[in-house]
Amino acid sequence: MHILKKEEIFPYLIEITKNAKNYILISSPWIKLDILKNILKDIKVEVIIRSSQLEDLFITDKDIFRYIKNIGGKVYLNPDIHAKFVIVDGKEAIIGSANLTHAGLLEEGNIETAVLVKNKKEIEKLEKYFNEIKENSVNLFSDLAGIIVNSINSRNSEGFILEKIPEQTYVKIPIDKDAFYLGRIGTVKDLSSSFLSSFYTFLSKSLFADKEKLKSIFSEKDELWRKAAIFSYINEKVPDISLCSIEILAEFNPEKIREKESILKTPVIPPTSGSPFTLIKKEEDIKDLLKINHAGYWMGKPVKFGKLFNTDLNAYLDLEKIYTMHMAVLGITGSGKTTFLRRVFENLEYKDITVYIFDLYGEYFESLKNAGVKDIKRYEIKNTIFPITAEQIKDIFKSYGIPIQERSLEEKRVISFFRLFLKPDLSVLEYKEKTLEDLLLKATELTDIESPLKGEIYELIDMLKADFGENTLNNQPEIVSEIFSSLKENSNIIVYDFKDIEDPKSRINIAGLIMKELFRISKKDSKKRLVVLEEAQNFAPEKGFGEIEAGSENLSYIMARKIATEGRKFNLGIIAVTQRPANISKYVLSQLNTQVIFKLSNKNDLEAVSPFFEVSKEDIFYLLPFLKPGTGYITGLGVPFGMFIEIKLG
Ligand SMILES: Nc1ncnc2c1ncn2[C@@H]1O[C@H](COP(=O)(O)OP(=O)(O)OP(=O)(O)O)[C@@H](O)[C@H]1O
Ligand SMILES: [Mg+2]
Repeated sequence: MHILKKEEIFPYLIEITKNAKNYILISSPWIKLDILKNILKDIKVEVIIRSSQLEDLFITDKDIFRYIKNIGGKVYLNPDIHAKFVIVDGKEAIIGSANLTHAGLLEEGNIETAVLVKNKKEIEKLEKYFNEIKENSVNLFSDLAGIIVNSINSRNSEGFILEKIPEQTYVKIPIDKDAFYLGRIGTVKDLSSSFLSSFYTFLSKSLFADKEKLKSIFSEKDELWRKAAIFSYINEKVPDISLCSIEILAEFNPEKIREKESILKTPVIPPTSGSPFTLIKKEEDIKDLLKINHAGYWMGKPVKFGKLFNTDLNAYLDLEKIYTMHMAVLGITGSGKTTFLRRVFENLEYKDITVYIFDLYGEYFESLKNAGVKDIKRYEIKNTIFPITAEQIKDIFKSYGIPIQERSLEEKRVISFFRLFLKPDLSVLEYKEKTLEDLLLKATELTDIESPLKGEIYELIDMLKADFGENTLNNQPEIVSEIFSSLKENSNIIVYDFKDIEDPKSRINIAGLIMKELFRISKKDSKKRLVVLEEAQNFAPEKGFGEIEAGSENLSYIMARKIATEGRKFNLGIIAVTQRPANISKYVLSQLNTQVIFKLSNKNDLEAVSPFFEVSKEDIFYLLPFLKPGTGYITGLGVPFGMFIEIKLG
């Protein structure tokens, strides 16, 4: 170790850097270019400088940024750096009080000292320290996306962005070594097209030449102007900056989870003006943050389904919050709803959950198989006519021109017969043993001798067979037995493929019966189950929409309601998928505590989802009509915060 007086420091610096072969590391709060030029070479160079306030960047020569960039070096900004040292090739270092400035190394005035260190072990230690500081600094050339200029409140800030960044980009705003805010850029406003820009242009052209005037502007407390000036200063050209709104989604401290504490804090302190923010690109940037739940603890059952918009970060939802608190998947046709669910189930790793998919168009089984899902079983329900109440039989009669008013004794007999044997319940429904044709034939025996009704029933049988197919009157027992065996099935995913069923009411009846059984079984064993209802507006319609009844006649509606309200007690969840959020029962929709929303354009539908967008998410709400397929918004209990997402199509 060699102690250096002030006048010796600079010559020694030149001396040790002259022979540098591999790298030079510099920590110096302030730096002047002419000093730096004496010691830098075209090798790996890393420099940490201070960026606590504008004055810091004012002391440091603006030209050093370009100079270091041009030789391929890196500049790190740190608000707290005060240490001054230079390391060369891990062999020699000078540590002391002097900045790489005139006052530090050349002029009289500052009295400085330093030591020259050649001990490799000590230098190794210093180098490690350098890297630690670096990790908590902002890499000016790659990470820095912008700066907070104005915090409106703890949830909303405004910032300047320095490069082209699209709206709906996620950013990280460091608070200290571990903690940070996660922010979302909402709207971006290009300043060059606004009134403000003329002000900046004016600033950069006339006033920047005059340091005294510049200083007086900087001593003004108005942060908006001040920050703009910094970047104009750095770039030294007509400002090419945009103003953006940033929504603060949450404040996180990832270290806390190790201490078994919540890593989430409600943001109550707004980010400090002047805080830099960086783009979030890799998962390490936010350390598994997307796998935490609302409360800030690890998700019980995270399932990957896509990416956070505009990033390479996997987005997750907590299945535990879905089978207890349900989910809605909404969006116009072709917007990505089914694909979203396929992505969820492709990544389902939990064998203790059974998913029952009511697949209306046969879209799930093959594609999930192709995606490598093994533990999956399909039940292809044959085309059938499946009335489950006497009222529905009356409707069938009516639609074929046979009105039954239950006025005559004969009609009363026939209908009471159906009332006795057709019940909206699989365990008592006569279809266990008898076909619909059996029942209709039996009914003919109850008609009066030579009654026209007898002939009409025979005709009805013929017409139904002609319209729907010979087997549709005869396969009820087969379907019932299939449903029973599906309920005993141990597969992870069970797909009820309804694509062959032509009659919508029969589909709804079968789905309702299955849901009823699932409710019953779940009540007993509380095993984890999830029901997926495609075209849920048919299964759980809002009153007055469409031709499907919303009342007690619709078993699937009753069951969807029941599962949505009571299912959580025994781990039975529902995922309702619909193109028409306005047409789905408002009551059911309000129970679906995670919402995935893709493109929507109809006014009523937009209105139906508007409650899911709090004020700070208004910009996303207004984007809904313009979303491309596969891009959507997910919010609610199943995700850490409302987020803009993308899923892979195809
Ligand atoms: N196998 C595939 N190959 C290519 N593109 C596909 C494939 N499957 C779906 N897509 C496209 O992905 C987009 C989303 O389709 P998806 O079936 O998920 O929509 P959806 O919201 O479920 O629509 P719907 O309400 O009609 O069921 C559509 O634009 C569709 O054309
Ligand atoms: Mg679909």
